[in-house]
Amino acid sequence: MDVGVVDEKILLVEPEIDDRPATRTIDATDKIVFPGFIDAHTHMGIPIMGTRSIDDFESGSIAAACGGVTTIIDFTVQEPGQTLQESIDVRLAKADGKSHIDYALHVNVTDQPQARVAEIPAIVEQGFSAFKVFSTYKQAGMMIAWPEFRNVLEAVQRQGALLCLHAEDDATVEKDTAANIVAKRRAAICHPRSRTPAAEAMAITQAADIARELGAQLYIVHLSSKAGLDAALAAREQGAKLILETCPQYLVLSEACYLKENGHHWITTPPLRTEEDCEALWDALSQGQIDVVATDHCPFTRSQKDDNSGRFHLTPNGIPGVETLFPLLYTYGVAEGRLSLERLVQVLATNPARIFGFCGQKGVIEIGADADFTIWDPEKEWRIKPELLHGNADWSPYVGMTILGAVAQTILRGFVLAEYGDFVGTAVRGNLVLKNESNQTLRN
Ligand code: URP
Ligand code: ZN
Ligand code: ZN
Repeated sequence: MDVGVVDEKILLVEPEIDDRPATRTIDATDKIVFPGFIDAHTHMGIPIMGTRSIDDFESGSIAAACGGVTTIIDFTVQEPGQTLQESIDVRLAKADGKSHIDYALHVNVTDQPQARVAEIPAIVEQGFSAFKVFSTYKQAGMMIAWPEFRNVLEAVQRQGALLCLHAEDDATVEKDTAANIVAKRRAAICHPRSRTPAAEAMAITQAADIARELGAQLYIVHLSSKAGLDAALAAREQGAKLILETCPQYLVLSEACYLKENGHHWITTPPLRTEEDCEALWDALSQGQIDVVATDHCPFTRSQKDDNSGRFHLTPNGIPGVETLFPLLYTYGVAEGRLSLERLVQVLATNPARIFGFCGQKGVIEIGADADFTIWDPEKEWRIKPELLHGNADWSPYVGMTILGAVAQTILRGFVLAEYGDFVGTAVRGNLVLKNESNQTLRN
């Protein structure tokens, strides 16, 4: 099949496009051509635990492009006292003129959620399709209480938008964390013992009950555990419309990482789990029970990670991932026979585009869509090393893992941004992507 691109859009998809003049022709013989991938969960340059995640929109988007991602969905940061609108304006100013790939924003509702509900209609009207709340991080002033969660969910649903939830039961997390601290246990392995699968499952069940009562869809971010998955599937059985996202770290890494010499570098929330959890998530992904894979890209340098002597409760939470998202999913999913190519495209492209309202524009190779492509060379093989990656983190949680294939080209709206590990973009071209039609079509 040939694809013709004019003015940043796909104009032709035909068995053969012959003899028509083109400024550039790319031969993808023996390669696999995918729609440009979407990473629906990144945090570029956000404040966390007294520091800041080390990629900004510039470095993070270059890393994304080198990994075959053409659109990221990042999050606003609502500072205390800020309106949602102010938080959007601040965040857009950070991305505008900096991001080399297209970007959208989920709107965090973390400060005085009850007072902010009234803003939701005007924000959806501007084209922002999703909001996000946290059932944890009380000490950081980000947690939403369940009565407020109900009100925000109701308001978001009324506008035809989607609410995303970071689901962990804060009281359970606080109790288990305190028990470790009191017992003077500070090693990285205490992180998964403090933020347990039970805490994840508990919050999912509670949130799903409310969503079911309201008849609202709810998007669970970064599902990490079999217990959380079981809770979500049980809630779905009872009629809750849950959309589920997981991340590569919960598929290909396990809590054994916390026992390594620099185990605290792998501290991210939710924590890495057991191999049994990984297998349960792979099964759910291949069977279509998990809808999206995104990264929760939130990188820190080794020095940032080391600043608190490896104490689990003081180490900044988050790991890099945007550049390795698709290579890992292809290698450990498709090449290992756990995931069909079709499922890979669904969870990295078509589903996030549908869920967040970019249907027809992103995540598909069809006439009228943006000319975003990721061209994969399945014949190459390479090993992940920090020096081959493009983000600002000086390490990778996936170091040493072998990737079967390489991103030959990443193309954003017809412009080649990356070729075999080199960023070749010549101008900053990232645009804000807004909702273009009703989302919430996935689990009605
Ligand atoms: O530990 C992580 N993932 N930090 C980013 C914020 C979040 O909870 O997603
Ligand atoms: Zn989170
Ligand atoms: Zn996150």
